[in-house]
Amino acid sequence: MRRTRSGPSIREFLQYYLLVLLAEGPQTKWEMVRQIRERSADNRVYRPTGVLWPASSEVQVVLDKLAADGLIELLPGGQRWQITASGKRAITKYEEQKQESGGKEKAAEKLIELLGTASPDSRVLDVGTGQGFLALKLAERGFRVLGIDSGSFDYSKDSIQEAQQQAALQGGDVEFRQADIRELAEPDDSFDYVVSSQAMHCMEDQQECLQAVHRLLKPGGSFLCIDFLVGLRGFLSHGFHCFLAISREEWVELLLEHEFGNIRMYDMDDYLLIESKKP
Ligand SMILES: C[S@@+](CC[C@H](N)C(=O)[O-])C[C@H]1O[C@@H](n2cnc3c(N)ncnc32)[C@H](O)[C@@H]1O
Repeated sequence: MRRTRSGPSIREFLQYYLLVLLAEGPQTKWEMVRQIRERSADNRVYRPTGVLWPASSEVQVVLDKLAADGLIELLPGGQRWQITASGKRAITKYEEQKQESGGKEKAAEKLIELLGTASPDSRVLDVGTGQGFLALKLAERGFRVLGIDSGSFDYSKDSIQEAQQQAALQGGDVEFRQADIRELAEPDDSFDYVVSSQAMHCMEDQQECLQAVHRLLKPGGSFLCIDFLVGLRGFLSHGFHCFLAISREEWVELLLEHEFGNIRMYDMDDYLLIESKKP
């Protein structure tokens, strides 16, 4: 099923990317929408709904804004847009924002700061742990951690074994298990914290996964999730892949729908850290 994307995060990306498309030659609005869908089609490898379908109303808002700013103009006939000299200069300015991505480590440090001091009784679940990026950091700081991964992709099918080997070297109270969050054999209300890094974007059904997170958290427990930033900064580092993730505005909607509260978000360069609580 397709998901039409709108909101400030998508608009921020379109302000740059419509200029990029028009720098390739004059186009109609529909030609640009089609190109965005086609260029993001590889996202289907990770999730069937991963292709970016920008809402046509959102594209129109951005076209009007770019025209008002003198960055693009309509050609005679009123259908095709072309870029102006100022528009070409604006692309260069946007691209100067491309930098080495350091957001993931920064976000992990912030997540650990938000968890506070480890207490011997509190349990943490790391969902989509891969080779244990978060789980191992948390175990090192004294948390009791279970890391799970479904091994859904070629690159991740052996991740759990690699995480286990690293845990054996490092020590700490950490267990790794191959499991899908939706089928994890743990009682309800088991964990004080559920954390996740760069995994939510490739979960097949994000709604069911969030429901499972809610089931597994104790009342008053926190969910802390790091993923790509949907928007310009995410796109400049990760390309169309960033649109597999959930945007700031979609997170609010999804978390409220699944009865999470106390939502806070932190922009960490090309990553977003989301914090929320099960009441
Ligand atoms: C890109 S990796 C991230 C690994 C690690 N957390 C990190 O930050 O480097 C995403 C992982 O999520 C796992 N995954 C996807 N869907 C899952 C699910 N429903 N339950 C558990 N793990 C899942 C994939 O197998 C993959 O290893």
